[in-house]
Amino acid sequence: MTEKPVRVQWTSRMAFILAASGSAIGLGNIWKFPYIAGENGGGAFVLIYLACVAAIGVPIMMAEILLGKRGRLSPINTMLILAGEIGATPAWRYVGWLGVIAGFLILSYYSVIAGWTMAYVLKMSLGSFVGISAIAAGEVFSAFKSTPQFLLIWHTVFMAVTLWIVSLGVSGGLEKGTRFMMPALFILLLLLVGYAMNSGAFRQGFEFLFAPDFSRLGADSVLIAMGQAFFSLSLGMGAIMVYGSYLPTHVSIARSTLWIAVADTVIALLAGMAIFPIIFANQLEPTLGPGLIFQTLPVAFGQMPAGAFFGTLFFVLLFFAALSSSISLIEPAVAWLSETWKMSRFRACAIAGSLCWLAGLGTVYSFNVWGEIKWFGKTIFELVDFVTANIMLPIGGVLMALFAGWVMNRQTVEAQLPLGKGLAQRAWWILIRYIAPASVFVVFLHASGIL
Ligand code: PFF
Repeated sequence: MTEKPVRVQWTSRMAFILAASGSAIGLGNIWKFPYIAGENGGGAFVLIYLACVAAIGVPIMMAEILLGKRGRLSPINTMLILAGEIGATPAWRYVGWLGVIAGFLILSYYSVIAGWTMAYVLKMSLGSFVGISAIAAGEVFSAFKSTPQFLLIWHTVFMAVTLWIVSLGVSGGLEKGTRFMMPALFILLLLLVGYAMNSGAFRQGFEFLFAPDFSRLGADSVLIAMGQAFFSLSLGMGAIMVYGSYLPTHVSIARSTLWIAVADTVIALLAGMAIFPIIFANQLEPTLGPGLIFQTLPVAFGQMPAGAFFGTLFFVLLFFAALSSSISLIEPAVAWLSETWKMSRFRACAIAGSLCWLAGLGTVYSFNVWGEIKWFGKTIFELVDFVTANIMLPIGGVLMALFAGWVMNRQTVEAQLPLGKGLAQRAWWILIRYIAPASVFVVFLHASGIL
């Protein structure tokens, strides 16, 4: 089969890198990475996370992009036709389905947390945090999250904005905006790290984040670190695959992947370097959980000159980072609905979005009135987060790796991913065929107590 024509595509390589980085860089880097690193003891967790990004994330991202670029359809149909092309079972399409369901579940809570960032834009701009103490900032956050109406309103607003952008379509909606937001976010993070350096506890924060102490790892820490690598790089659910399906023919997948992975990792580490010193300087605990950045950053902004301005700007940028990720969470479903059912993107968004919104109510109430409802010791939010990031994404990612590594025709793969005849190519094949799938398998066995 010759290369399929592209139905819609990014205008340039840079546009793709920005959009894919936009998907990767989001709440996962700035909200989630610091709090789960805090809950899992810091340095050793971060080290395992970095190893997972390099040995599992990077090769799988290349595989996921190449599948999309070869199939040129939504993940479900891409998997179906690629399997058909080589006479493999059509059941491979369930990889696409797994991704659609995972994206849908992730977006249901992602939207709630992104709503918090919008609320904090408002609070910051009203100057509510000027000179605030850590304790008072904690109280503001607790009062906010225990009021379901607030969470509900912001969840609704965020979901509406996401759907509006997705309904505008690929180059109209997805591409614009990411161009300025990412560099601006980077600069503001640097500013925060600069502040943290002078907070008096930079060394302590730095050591917490980078000095590995394996005795601090919890039972599930390795699984969570691996899940975070998938989550942060947007892997295993078809988001990167669908973005790859819009890739112009001549663009290098390998080089783009490295850019995206490095940018994503740098932003997460910078967020950690900004936040942990603030925690220690204010005698807070790194184990504060999902409220971590909402209880620490206001203290920092409250103390710095023009803090209300920078704080507002920061939460605005975080909102945009979340938005450029949320659109990729729903894109696989919308692409599938519009291509299979010949629906307008608008209609597809309305259907997928309202279901997601409804599912998000579980998260909204799990922070307050349903806080005591638990399965396996986890609230609804915690359970959805755990199952999607640590189970569904790794399974999806491994299936993609196995498909590209073992099922697809080797020449086809190498034509999409030309890595030369040297070490890079050999390394990729070993990683995608053996190392990535085996590592995920071993981590699963370890987490389930078998190993
Ligand atoms: N990578 C995003 C983040 O770190 O916030 C979240 C995400 C987006 C996960 C898209 C998965 C995905 F497919």
